[in-house]
Amino acid sequence: MGGMEFPVVRPRRLRRTPALRRMVAETHVRPEQLILPVFVREGVSEPVPIGSMPGVVQHTRDSLKKAAAEAAQLGLGGIMLFGVPETKDAVGSGALDPNGILNVAIADVVAEVGDALPVMSDLCLDEFTDHGHCGVLDDDGAVDNDATLEVYAQMALAHAEAGVALVGPSGMMDGQVGVIREALDAADHTDVAILAYSAKYASAFYGPFREAVDSTLQGDRRTYQQDPANALEGVREALLDVAEGADLVMVKPALAYLDVIRQVRDAVDVPVAAYNISGEYAMVEAAAANGWIDREAAILETLLSIRRAGADVILTYWAAEAAGLLRGQG
Ligand code: PBG
Repeated sequence: MGGMEFPVVRPRRLRRTPALRRMVAETHVRPEQLILPVFVREGVSEPVPIGSMPGVVQHTRDSLKKAAAEAAQLGLGGIMLFGVPETKDAVGSGALDPNGILNVAIADVVAEVGDALPVMSDLCLDEFTDHGHCGVLDDDGAVDNDATLEVYAQMALAHAEAGVALVGPSGMMDGQVGVIREALDAADHTDVAILAYSAKYASAFYGPFREAVDSTLQGDRRTYQQDPANALEGVREALLDVAEGADLVMVKPALAYLDVIRQVRDAVDVPVAAYNISGEYAMVEAAAANGWIDREAAILETLLSIRRAGADVILTYWAAEAAGLLRGQG
């Protein structure tokens, strides 16, 4: 043949053995970068499985304490609590009741793990309202931004009194971070940090979460959650939250928004979190259950991709299991 040219540059050289690949790996996932979201349901004596999220349950107060102790033992980055109240009403009263499920669960978990595991709370009304919206409604049935802010401020105080380390406002009301920061500081809770759900999109992938918190949403959330078409707007929301005092900013969901994670990472100087949400979990679990994909490999690849996009920490329902898989690899 003559003239056949062979490559001088051969990227495959560094892929030849596991040790070589490990040496040049650019991205790592560590257990302390993973935050475990958990659901705790009022008035149940046994954990209740969530059908659309195989392996995830609505905890009892007792089983939640065990899960938190395990998470601390595994060296996870934190635990994010969601409350599922027995009764819901138009204004989400259960959210402010000191004996409400989320507030007692925060205290339970803090008593269990102390400072060993950062305890975080979802600060939002949708778990507590009978209409399923993240805020209170005005006379026309629209979500009332400023009236909701007042409830969020009180909710933040209730969580702080219960001992939470970080509150996670997730309702996408304008000004929520500033109002919460001000309320916490005025009550001497200057140590309570804010993990702001900053760029939160109106996503179809939240589906299984609705079952997890027994929510029957009336209508949709498009007047407050972001349009999936917009990335710059996500950056703007993150910058606003930093200006209002957010300690971390979050992009949510993760997988359909990896570009937004990257843009936010490049734009802010605080840690960036990403939420590997219920629908992303359910897709992998469903495909794996059918034997269509290798479950553990898909989990690790998912988490790696979110880190590679720029997330410093990841909220994921696989946190505990992934910590075990990562230790096994290391
Ligand atoms: C709001 C909230 C939601 C999720 C976390 N916080 C639901 C929503 O905004 O519709 C979704 C989490 C998931 O899907 O895993 N309280």
